[in-house]
Amino acid sequence: MSKSLQAIRGMNDTLPEQTPLWRYLESKVSRLLDNYGYKQIRMPIVEFTELFKRSIGEVTDIVEKEMYTFEDRNGDSLTLRPEGTAACVRAVLEHGLTGGGQVQKLWYIGPMFRHERPQKGRYRQFHQIGVEVFNLDGPDIDAELIVLTWRLWGELGIRDAVKLELNSLGTSEARARYRAALVEYLSSRLGELDEDSQRRLKSNPLRVLDTKNADTQAVLVDAPKMVDYLDEESRVHFEGLKARLDTAGIPYTINPKLVRGLDYYSKTVFEWVTDKLGAQGTVCAGGRYDGLVEQMGGKPTSGVGFAMGIERLILMLETLEQIPEEIARQVDVYLCAFGEAAELAALALSERVRDQLPNLRLQINAGAGSFKSQFKKADKSGALYALILGDDELAQQVVGVKPLRGQGEQQTIAWDALAEHLATCIVQG
Ligand code: HAM
Repeated sequence: MSKSLQAIRGMNDTLPEQTPLWRYLESKVSRLLDNYGYKQIRMPIVEFTELFKRSIGEVTDIVEKEMYTFEDRNGDSLTLRPEGTAACVRAVLEHGLTGGGQVQKLWYIGPMFRHERPQKGRYRQFHQIGVEVFNLDGPDIDAELIVLTWRLWGELGIRDAVKLELNSLGTSEARARYRAALVEYLSSRLGELDEDSQRRLKSNPLRVLDTKNADTQAVLVDAPKMVDYLDEESRVHFEGLKARLDTAGIPYTINPKLVRGLDYYSKTVFEWVTDKLGAQGTVCAGGRYDGLVEQMGGKPTSGVGFAMGIERLILMLETLEQIPEEIARQVDVYLCAFGEAAELAALALSERVRDQLPNLRLQINAGAGSFKSQFKKADKSGALYALILGDDELAQQVVGVKPLRGQGEQQTIAWDALAEHLATCIVQG
């Protein structure tokens, strides 16, 4: 027997009962970003592999192990984007959007692809909403990014369940000095490090800091601290950010081990983490990448941004039961018509009501059916009211309006008055 076709592991369908919550989240975020003056940009899902190698870094987990890379029919090496920052920088440069020091405040949404081991909150195709800002180099914009996410958590009802972790990685020179000190220290205790950290010590020593291995963590207690190696400019920048967060009343903790898994960061890095999702607790993460544009062939241009994982935020909304009631209901009114003549009239009537109430969610029964079966469908749809149109109603140009969720008695309403009547009894979504 042939094997039945299935979706690829770690790449999920979003089923009709789940999409309302996705759309709710997406519309909340996009409205918030509009209100703060950010503009949407849309980039392709596939880019030249070289783009990600050059920006994310050759010796990162993403580039070394997780990319979906293939050769296309021209022999070019292409990759499904594992994140959005690289492509956004590429697009901005290609179209000269940051030329002459122009400020850009951009956001994007879409699927990203990483060949990670799938588990709750970690998938191979996942979705991010990301924000990138160019040509603003002060801590005020770092603070704005954090403030707007804080507002979002408030609007979504998940603020109490997330915590902000902050760190500064300094300029690349400061980081190089710190890296040298860290390598010297860790090399002196090489035998006590786990195997993976020994490997990382050679390829990407800062990543040893976020090891999960308890023995290596114990060695790290006495390791040199990044904050002691920060250059003056980065230190002042970090102080400026902290002062703004204090003024805005946003709680945070400094996590000196926060280094991020992508190589392009400098100065500020941050993560919003939760303990509600098990192992995959980072719901939103980002930071500054002041050297990246230049490294990609552009003029020196500062950059800062973040991305949030949509699947993880959806899991948060579900876990914390922060699903607004109006999105659970998809239908306001369900129109049942009995007999051919009534069906014809129902179509015209429903279109008239739609003209008058463009936001009304009106579903018209399709496929005919007995009184009982149409009522069953009306009830199952979740509608607040069933409209009933049979031969008698047709003759008198009226409809029966029957409450389905216990809001009073059935009423008879003239066609001409129907829209007005529905407007008074339904709060439209
Ligand atoms: P990232 O930390 O790799 O950063 O990913 C950002 C967020 O995407 C994570 O915090 C998480 O919520 C979500 N995410 C990442 N991988 C997965 C996965 N396999 N399954 C589900 N969700 C996932 C970046 O991608 C940077 N581009 C962020 C940035 C923008 N930095 C500056 N600008």
